[in-house]
Amino acid sequence: MGRHVVILGVQWGDEGKGKIVDLLTDRADGVVRFQGGHNAGHTLVIEGQKTVLHLVPSGILRPNIHCYIGNGVVVAPDALLAEINQLEAAGIDVTSRLHLSAGCPVVLPFHSALDQAREVKRGGQAIGTTGRGIGPAYEDKVARRGLRLGDLLRANLCAERLDVLGEYHNFMLTSYYDAAPVDVGALKENVIEWAEALGPMIGDVAGALGAKVTEGQSFLFEGAQGALLDIDHGTYPFVTSSNTGAGNASVGSGVGPAIFDTVLGIVKAYTTRVGNGPFPTELFDDVGARLADKGQEFGATTGRPRRCGWFDAVSVRRACRLNGINSLCVTKLDVLDGLDEIKICHAYRIDGEEIENSLMDAAALEAVEPVYESVPGWHESTVGHREVAALPGAARSYLERLSELVGVPIDIVSTGPGRDETIVRRHPLKG
Ligand code: GDP
Ligand code: IMO
Ligand code: MG
Repeated sequence: MGRHVVILGVQWGDEGKGKIVDLLTDRADGVVRFQGGHNAGHTLVIEGQKTVLHLVPSGILRPNIHCYIGNGVVVAPDALLAEINQLEAAGIDVTSRLHLSAGCPVVLPFHSALDQAREVKRGGQAIGTTGRGIGPAYEDKVARRGLRLGDLLRANLCAERLDVLGEYHNFMLTSYYDAAPVDVGALKENVIEWAEALGPMIGDVAGALGAKVTEGQSFLFEGAQGALLDIDHGTYPFVTSSNTGAGNASVGSGVGPAIFDTVLGIVKAYTTRVGNGPFPTELFDDVGARLADKGQEFGATTGRPRRCGWFDAVSVRRACRLNGINSLCVTKLDVLDGLDEIKICHAYRIDGEEIENSLMDAAALEAVEPVYESVPGWHESTVGHREVAALPGAARSYLERLSELVGVPIDIVSTGPGRDETIVRRHPLKG
């Protein structure tokens, strides 16, 4: 029987999911994306060479691994084609190993134009989206007017649908947002090119996965964004427009929820956030600046600086429970090297009272103040360590305390961006 693992970010994204998915793919047959779109930026560093993936699953750099984009992912064909071309130019065979669900909603130029126009209109209340059109594309899906990848293969239906979408969205863009309209004629031509280039990869991903699971193959389900950006359970309205949680691994790819053996949560040893919204443990001092600098905290998609702060055990504990996370990976431990003191937020204070569980929406978080405990730091380097025993005692104690506060065992620790700079105590695909 195969084994199946869901891999999720447990903070506000950029926890190092791409690195860990690539690493664990050594024992998998395939990798499946199930939500989000090219708002994601997943970084892989192999033998010093860096690759940033946005839509292509993080198994593509291992030959023989098949990569699936499930129906829950919103796909921008131009962005996907650019990514495929870049990978193929680097000598990686993508087209024969990438499978796209016919049910994926297509991200069209209307969507990015609307996303950007809305952010401008929101002014000081802007969400800080990636501007990629992710929210408007999911809106069209739920409104039942969107275009899906499978529709690209039906030229007439596609052209009719684009006329309807053009009329509706261009009205909004020009009359409400005072923005430029999208040229529907040019878009129809693009769509013909997209259909030709992507056509051979579009098919029944749910059906293929079902058959391969039955055959006994093993899959990794790669989350994008993070638990606190979840549309339902995150810091609403400062969230992304999909369910980032474990449940969506099933819905967003078309496999039954009983197949999963492990839900592996990825957390940074501290916290970062890119975009706006509440962040109780954010640091505005030298320590925050040091984390940003040492951790090279710039968005992999937009290049924006990431906000940095201490580890927030309250939000991570809640996210672990919401998603049934039963195994944890802590990344970027090395970034904490050299600090005298490290703080962990173990509770929130509201109206003078300490609480250990809170709703995560923006209105609830506005009222909280973090309650910290302080633990000793370490001065030795942990960079590239591959054994727990080699870590400084204070680093081991820090990890133990995180695990205790969150209530989940730490099975993997990352000590550098490279594939090999990792401590694997328990591999989730190893029997
Ligand atoms: P993802 O979106 O969750 O895949 O994460 P990103 O790729 O956006 O951001 C993680 C960043 O941290 C990337 O630049 C990685 O190369 C880097 N990284 C991952 N793990 C480690 C680690 O353990 N130590 C250090 N120093 N960098 C890491
Ligand atoms: P990965 O997969 C970090 C954030 C944006 C913004 C909010 C909404 O690399 O971890 P959107 O464009 O999705 O409508 O923006 O979500 N965001 C991410 N932050 N990592 C990501 O992906 C993100 N994808 C979206 O910054 O705050
Ligand atoms: Mg990222």
